[in-house]
Amino acid sequence: MKSIVVQQPNELVIEERPLPAPGVGEVRVKISLAGICGSDSHIYRGHNPFAKYSRVIGHEFFGIVDAVGEGVTDKLQGQRVCVDPVISCGHCYPCSVGKPNVCTSLVVLGVHRDGGFSEYAVVPAKNAWVVAPTIADHHAVMVEPFTIAANVTGQVEPRKEDIALIYGAGPMGLTTLQALKNVYQVKQVIVVDRIDERLAMAEKNGADWVINNSTLSLPSLLEEKGIKPTLIVDAACHPSILQEAITLASPAARIVLMGFSSEPSTVVQQAITGKEISIYTSRLNANKFPVVLEWLENGLIDPDKLITHRFNYTQVSEAIELFEKDQKSCCKVLLTFN
Ligand code: NAI
Repeated sequence: MKSIVVQQPNELVIEERPLPAPGVGEVRVKISLAGICGSDSHIYRGHNPFAKYSRVIGHEFFGIVDAVGEGVTDKLQGQRVCVDPVISCGHCYPCSVGKPNVCTSLVVLGVHRDGGFSEYAVVPAKNAWVVAPTIADHHAVMVEPFTIAANVTGQVEPRKEDIALIYGAGPMGLTTLQALKNVYQVKQVIVVDRIDERLAMAEKNGADWVINNSTLSLPSLLEEKGIKPTLIVDAACHPSILQEAITLASPAARIVLMGFSSEPSTVVQQAITGKEISIYTSRLNANKFPVVLEWLENGLIDPDKLITHRFNYTQVSEAIELFEKDQKSCCKVLLTFN
């Protein structure tokens, strides 16, 4: 089989590898579609501190089970599946409180273990989620990015009355936007970004108000309208955003952080405690695959609004370069296999 391998930072090759056999409790998936995420590019460029090389990248993937290992029901054979990249031990403290996404021995497919940018991938059977026939292939491959939004929103129980503010109109901001508008029916969702084309995508994805904060002052605009967001999601992830969010937030607001910056954020406690603001973080997803599959089955979310490009997997280098360089036209880029 052919696999897309980052041998070391900045060295990506398509390699011939032996077809793997599924072990005990595993299935082999014949991949048909995979999605490119910022973290694939970070591993490629050597900017992901968790990655080990060489690595088959890719943690958003969909395909058909073509072999099952010992102890796995034959019923999975031939099923269309999307794969949860989060592998957890099931018995440490975070696992015991329902947070396998921060398991003390967390393994993420495509980061710590070979992932889905390959013609075939072997994965734990319990990570392979059967996709209903009503869900199209190119929607099934988008389940993983929407699980990030399901995790973010799951932390804060959004209410219809919320006034939400999302920083960043990249794939993460847009999936969160769709979840807030379409699943939780939040009355007003404001999206702020520095790129007009991304803000146009936010409008297409349901934003009520978009603001370009490279040319306009977000604090002044909100003040003019007397708006104090009750729910803020940082999907832009610059360390300076947290203090601004704390300043703009309503008393009793919730703020969710998604960033992994190693730079410190300087914040003033008085403003946090004075307004009793709750600050949450969200990493990957905790058992959110069935949640997003249900959203798709019920037609609540529309992945088509994020997919901008498709490439054959043999053009993976061009696809990643476009993804990295052209944030104006690019949102979700899919790779096709087989
Ligand atoms: P992206 O880079 O495509 O989008 C980020 C957007 O934020 C861009 O459109 C950019 O113009 C905008 N932006 C940057 N600085 C800004 C600022 N100061 N104000 C307003 N907008 C600003 O990235 P993507 O894929 O949407 O991911 C967003 C972030 O989420 C990344 O930092 C990524 O590392 C993180 N992430 C976190 C996950 C988690 O589970 N916690 C999962 C996936 C991504």
